[in-house]
Amino acid sequence: MKILITEKLPINVEEKLKKYNIGVLIPRKHPDKNEMINIVKDMDGIICLLKDSIVKEVIDAGNKLKIIANYAVGFDNIDIKYAKEKNIFVTNTPDVLTEATADLVFGLLLSSARRIPEANDYVRKDRFKGWRPDEMLGYDVYSKTLGIFGFGRIGQAVARRAKGFNMRILYTARSEKNMPFKCEYVDYNTLIKESDYISVNAPLNKETKGIFNYNAFKQMKENAIFINTARGKIVKESDLVKALKENLIAGAALDVYENEPLIEEELKTMDNCILAPHMGSATKDTRTEMANICVNAIIDVLINKKGPKTCVNC
Ligand code: DGY
Repeated sequence: MKILITEKLPINVEEKLKKYNIGVLIPRKHPDKNEMINIVKDMDGIICLLKDSIVKEVIDAGNKLKIIANYAVGFDNIDIKYAKEKNIFVTNTPDVLTEATADLVFGLLLSSARRIPEANDYVRKDRFKGWRPDEMLGYDVYSKTLGIFGFGRIGQAVARRAKGFNMRILYTARSEKNMPFKCEYVDYNTLIKESDYISVNAPLNKETKGIFNYNAFKQMKENAIFINTARGKIVKESDLVKALKENLIAGAALDVYENEPLIEEELKTMDNCILAPHMGSATKDTRTEMANICVNAIIDVLINKKGPKTCVNC
C-alpha cells in the first residue's frame, strides 16, 4: 500500500507507517493539480494540505483511494460529497488546534488594538525619543465588545479568552449555544453594528463566502477592529482595503486571504492592518498532533478497516 503526502510534515510519517507496510511518497516539489492527478492513480490514501484542491478530477484519478486525510480542521478544499459517492473517507484535524488558533486571534486583537507591530518598528527605527502623552495611542480592549462570527470550538475558545478581559461577548451561529458564562446570541447585523472587535471563526461555505463586504464594513463602528483567522474567502478583500482607506473601521488583522497566498498589495502598505501567514495552528505541539491524527486516520482505514475518528463525510 502507498500514500501521498503533498508536503513534509513535522513527524516522521515514513517511519510510523513502515511497520504497517505502507509506503509514503512525498514529492520534492509540492504537486499542482495535474501532477496530483498523475500521482494519485497509484495511491491508497492522501494526506493533503488546505492549499491542495481535491476536486472531482483528482478524486476520479484515484482509482484505489480509500482515504483523504486533510492536515487542517477546515475542509473546504475537498469535494467531500463526491468523495463519499466514491466511498472515500475524508478526515480533518479538529480539537488539537482550537486553543492555538484562539491564542492567535487574541494575539492579533491585542497587537492591533495596541499597535504592537507598529511600535516595534518605531523603536527599531530610532523614532522613540522619550515618553510622550500622545505617542502610540491605541484602543482599549478590557470591557469592550467582541463579536464572534461563528461559534464552534474555536469561536468558543476565543470567548473564553475574552471573558478574562471582561469583554461583552456577542456571537452568531446556526444555533444558540449553552455557555458557562454570559455570551449573547445575536443576529449578523447586531454583531457587526455593536462590536468593537469582530473575530471571524466560521467555516467557508455558501452562506459565509464574501459575507464581509463593503456594505458590512460600512455598518461597523469607526473604532472597530476586524480579525480573520478562518478563511480568506469569507471576506471581500478589496472591500476591506476600501473600508480601511476610507476609515470606515479602525483596523484589521488577517491571517488568511481571499486568494491565498496572494494578498491585496495595498494591505501591505497600511499601518492599521496586521498581516500573518496563515499561522493559526502553527505551534510545534499542535502541528505534531495534527500529523498524528492524519496518520492514525490512514492506519484506521487502510489497516484496521474501520471508519476514522475524525471523518467529515461519514
Ligand atoms: C485549518 O486547520 O483549517 C487552519 O486554517 C490551519 O491553520
